[in-house]
Formats: sequence, C-alpha cells, structure tokens
Amino acid sequence: MAQSARPGVFITFEGGEGAGKTTHISFLADALRSQGAEVLRVREPGGTAAGEALRAIVLDAGSEGLSDQSELLIFEAARAQLVREQIAPALERGAVVLCDRFCDSTLAYQGYGRGLSLDFIRAANEFACQGVYPQRTVLMRASDCAQVGLQRATRHSADRMECQGDAFHANVNRGFDEIAASCPERIRVVDSSQPKPQTARCVFSCLADLFGWDPENLPFDDAFFDGVESYHGKRPNERQDQ
Ligand code: TMP
Repeated sequence: MAQSARPGVFITFEGGEGAGKTTHISFLADALRSQGAEVLRVREPGGTAAGEALRAIVLDAGSEGLSDQSELLIFEAARAQLVREQIAPALERGAVVLCDRFCDSTLAYQGYGRGLSLDFIRAANEFACQGVYPQRTVLMRASDCAQVGLQRATRHSADRMECQGDAFHANVNRGFDEIAASCPERIRVVDSSQPKPQTARCVFSCLADLFGWDPENLPFDDAFFDGVESYHGKRPNERQDQ
C-alpha cells in the first residue's frame, strides 16, 4: 500500500470485538483538538448517508440471507463513499483523520474470518481507497482469547458480525496478528488489556513521530493520561464529529 501524499494525517484503528478502540480514539481526538488540530473522526462502515444505510444492512442481525460476497462488497462500497466524501477532502484540508476500522478489518473479517480470497480483498481495498491510505494503524489487542473481547462487546446486544461465533472471531484475531506482522512499519500493536492510562500512553507514543512529539517525553502529563479513566468519549457521530 502506497501512503497518502496529502497534507493531512490519516490514522486508522483496528482490532477484534471489544478491543476498546472507541474511548481511545475519542480521547486522542480531544487531545489533538486541544492542540489546535482539525480532527475528523469517522467509523467504518458509516460516516456518509450511503455508508450509514449500508451499515444498517450489514450489521442488522435480521439480514440473514446476506452472502459472504455481498457482505464484502457492502463494506467496500461504504469505504469508497467515505473516502470520496469525507476522508480525502479532510486530508486535502490538512486535517487529522481518525478512522475506526478500515481496510485491515476487511482482510481480517472477510478474509481470515469468512475465508474469501485475500488477493481479491486486497484488490477491492485498493479500488475503494482511491489512492488514500493510512500513514499509521493502531491495532488494539484486548486479549489472546477472542471470547473475552466478544463477551465485552455483546454485554447489551449483538449485531450480525458479533453473532458469528467464537471460531470466526478467533480467526479474525489471528488475521489481525498476521496482518500486523506483515506491516510492522505501518501497524503498531497496543495491548488494551493494560490499565486505560497506560493504554492511552501507548497509543500516543506510537503516533508520536506523526505529530513531532518525543515518544519518551510526550507533551501530556500523567494527570492527563489518568483522566482517561473517567473519560466518557462519545461514539463518533460521523459526519458531524469534526
Ligand atoms: P463496529 O463499528 O461496532 O466495530 O462494527 C463494525 C463491524 O463490522 C465489526 O464487527 C467489524 C465488521 N467489519 C467487517 O466485517 N469488515 C469490514 O471491512 C469492516 C470495516 C468492519
């Protein structure tokens, strides 16, 4: 994957179910805004009118007959629209784009989880991305056991992907590990089973070079990172959340 040559910074967050991405993305977004950056926070699938409609279809536990092939194309269609409408223009403006899931999720879920061709998915990802690729990806890893994250994610209700069973999610997590091992420059793995302040510090450290921060001496103190314990980040309200 070639990197985006636009003036903004494009960071994606990945992980299996219940890996704890949402809080850390919100916390980082607020920190960057406090430093004066324009931040666009989006999620996949979603972030556009078409993308949210596609999300409703693909995550609806009632969409029972959806084939694996259709599922893949829905995720790619949502991505193509999000890149075109939101991500590319924001990067052109010089914004920081924080995206909750992107191409690696398709490789992990539809490739390693469903067993669809990884080569085909790479080509479909390239088609949907239209030349816009993340400079850095943070892979949040909650536990060696996919069941632990899955239980956390499905405390209240389970969507169509979360209902796919333990073996599926174990394959997804294995997929993420293999993808991370094959792209060590772009993908940094963060253990999100640590206490939240430590996890937040790790997230910031692995992005330090992108923002000109010294990773050993981040421009945020211990009290700032401790604040993540009581932080209630909003789920991304996609299009409005800029
Ligand atoms: P989430 O936004 O709550 O993480 O839900 C998105 C779900 O969709 C999650 O189970 C991962 C799944 N997914 C895929 O299967 N393929 C993809 O390409 C993407 C972006 C998400």
